[in-house]
Amino acid sequence: MSFARGSMNFTAMAKSEVMKGVRILGIESSCDETAAAVVVDGRRILSSVVASQIDIHRKYGGVVPELASREHLRQIVPVVREAMEQAGLRLEELDAIGVTQGPGLVGSLLVGITYGKALADALGKPLVAVNHLEGHIQAAFLEAFQSGEPPELPAVCLIVSGGHTVLYEVRAAEAGAPEVFVFRKLGQTRDDAAGEAYDKVAKLLGLGYPGGPILDRLALAAGNVAAPVKFGPVKTRGNALDFSFSGLKTAVLYHLREHPEYDGEVRERQALLESGHRRFDELLPMCSSQTLALVREFQNAVVRELVERTMRAAEETGVSTILVSGGVAANSQLRKVFEQRASEAGLRVFFPSRELSTDNAAMIAAAAYGRFVSGRFADVTLNAKANMPLA
Ligand code: KG4
Ligand code: ZN
Repeated sequence: MSFARGSMNFTAMAKSEVMKGVRILGIESSCDETAAAVVVDGRRILSSVVASQIDIHRKYGGVVPELASREHLRQIVPVVREAMEQAGLRLEELDAIGVTQGPGLVGSLLVGITYGKALADALGKPLVAVNHLEGHIQAAFLEAFQSGEPPELPAVCLIVSGGHTVLYEVRAAEAGAPEVFVFRKLGQTRDDAAGEAYDKVAKLLGLGYPGGPILDRLALAAGNVAAPVKFGPVKTRGNALDFSFSGLKTAVLYHLREHPEYDGEVRERQALLESGHRRFDELLPMCSSQTLALVREFQNAVVRELVERTMRAAEETGVSTILVSGGVAANSQLRKVFEQRASEAGLRVFFPSRELSTDNAAMIAAAAYGRFVSGRFADVTLNAKANMPLA
């Protein structure tokens, strides 16, 4: 049976009988995490396994694409096997395979896509192509479904990670298919993503990779020490809902250049990193109060930019729900400020848990469900897309 013919049969099947208890295996390999998960009806997570490559890329201060694809090749089989074991299912019991098509690193994406195609073909199951960004949006829904309080649509969604900072309006495609979304892009970063700014500033400060989690904790440890520098609001010409973070990163760089008193501690921390140590409790005593306050001011500026524009987008579109997802959505200050501002404005804000905020495959399986029920399947010609806008 050719795959194309199979796809047509699957369409008929999806639209008629098998709409409940749909078990989808999600596969994610767009960047530096190899992940697999089984999700039922786009809502109930049976398993979610993530193999992170952070230890491999850390010494280079960022993701090295060639190393990433090689590691995905090593990890994909054991990760999928573990996800199936944790779900307590045999591959034959799956209803479909969902795989990330893009955006991301082409070599990395191809590992997941090729494996997904082979698996779907061997099992005679449909293959569903998923946009990684839609996955991040679905992560917020997944979490809310677990708590029994799904977000109301339309919503404004901020996706904020190491590769993306983008605002969408999200609507249900039609009343009968609430799991199928349509998107309208409202704004995006013109240069660095917010997570990228975190990673670059952490590198400048000798705090290693990835920057977000460590800067988040150091900012909290700063207390009320006087600010060594203030970062004003960023103005973007044209679309007021666009972001820009490269100026903020450059402002940190100039501040460090103008104040040689930071140099000694930065070098000491770099030496610690080179010796393979990078725990928070090891780095904290090696940061002066001035450095901690600088980190706090940087974080306050990033959070202000993200929150202000998102609140403005919610006001302009008249929605009452905000969704925040992507690696930076794990940030404690971002969560706190969003919750405060949303409650003042009478809006509801939803974040995925920290595990579902960063890259994972449960969000890919959840996004695949909407495509599955509307009969949108991929075939053997499926290819990776480095750039793949949602709207
Ligand atoms: O979504 P993700 O896992 O991968 C991408 O698609 O990029 O996001 C990773 C990014 C990194 O830049 C990392 O520094 C940032 O998310 N990140 C954070 C935090 N945890 C991860 N940024 C700020 N605060 C955090 N707690
Ligand atoms: Zn991501």
